[in-house]
Amino acid sequence: MAKIIAGVGCSHVPAIGAAIDLGKTEEDYWKPLFKGFERSKEIMKQLNPDIVIEIYNDHGTAFSLQYIPTFSIGLAPEFPAADEGWGPRAVPTVKGDPDFGWYLAESLILSDFDMTMINEMEVDHGLTVPLSLMFGQVKEWPCPVIPMPINVVTYPPPSGKRCFALGRAIRKAVQEYPKDLRVVVFGTGGMSHQIHGERCGLINSDFDKKFLDMLTQDPQAAAAIPHKQYVTEAGAESIELVMWHIMRGALDDDAKEAYRFYHVPASNTAVGNIILVNPGVEVK
Ligand code: DHB
Ligand code: FE
Repeated sequence: MAKIIAGVGCSHVPAIGAAIDLGKTEEDYWKPLFKGFERSKEIMKQLNPDIVIEIYNDHGTAFSLQYIPTFSIGLAPEFPAADEGWGPRAVPTVKGDPDFGWYLAESLILSDFDMTMINEMEVDHGLTVPLSLMFGQVKEWPCPVIPMPINVVTYPPPSGKRCFALGRAIRKAVQEYPKDLRVVVFGTGGMSHQIHGERCGLINSDFDKKFLDMLTQDPQAAAAIPHKQYVTEAGAESIELVMWHIMRGALDDDAKEAYRFYHVPASNTAVGNIILVNPGVEVK
C-alpha cells in the first residue's frame, strides 16, 4: 500500500531559483540561505520518495487571469519549466505520473473535491524552486511529481480549513492506492511577504515562527486562521501559506518536526522550510 511518509513546507521565492541557476549560492547575500537547505537535502535523500505531490500556486503563468481554478491537478506525463520572462529555468523537465494522477483525481473528486483536471501545463517558480531546494542541482528529478496548483492569486482563495480537508482526502486516496509507494507532500509559498504597494517588503517573523509552531503542534487551529489575519499581519502574499495546510492535512496529527529553517531576507520576503515526518519514519 502507498503511504505518506513526510510533508515539506517550503517557500518558493523566484530569486532563489535565479541565484541557483546563475551560480550565486556562495555569494555573501545567499550563502546563509543555501546553508540552511543543506540539511533539507540530506533529509530528502534519506526519505527517498517514490513520488512527490506538490501543492503550489501558478503565478499567472499557465492560467493567466482568464481561467482561475481553485483546486487543480496535473495529469500529464511531463511538465516543462515555463518562461517567466527570462527564459525557462535550466532545470530538468518535471515528470508526472498519469496513472497515479488519474487515480488521485478520481479519488479526490469522488470525495467531493471538484479538482480541475490539467492535461498540459508549464510550471513556474512556484513548483520548480522548492524542487531545487529539496533535491539540489540534478540532471533528472529523483522521482515523478504530481503538481497541484491552488488559487491564491485572485480573491477569494480557499480557506485554510478547506485546504486541510483536501489534505485529508489526499491522505485517504494515498492510503487506498494498491502500489507500495513512499509519498512526500510539499506545501509551497509563504512565508510573510508583500511584494507590492505601500507595505512592500513587510516581514513579520513572530507571525511566521508562531505559524510554524502551530502547524506542527496544533494543525487544526493553524488551519482555522482567517485570510484577513495573514494579510494584515504578514502581508498580502503570505496568503500562500494556506497551501501548507493541505500538506499538513495529508499527514497524521502526531507527525513530528524533523527540521525547520527560517531566514530573512530573500528578495524582500521571509523564507521558511519545515519537514514533518509521520509516526514510524526516522531521519538521522
Ligand atoms: C516573490 C514572488 C513569489 O511568488 C513569492 O512567493 C515570493 C517572492 C518575489 O517576486 O520576490
Ligand atoms: Fe509565490
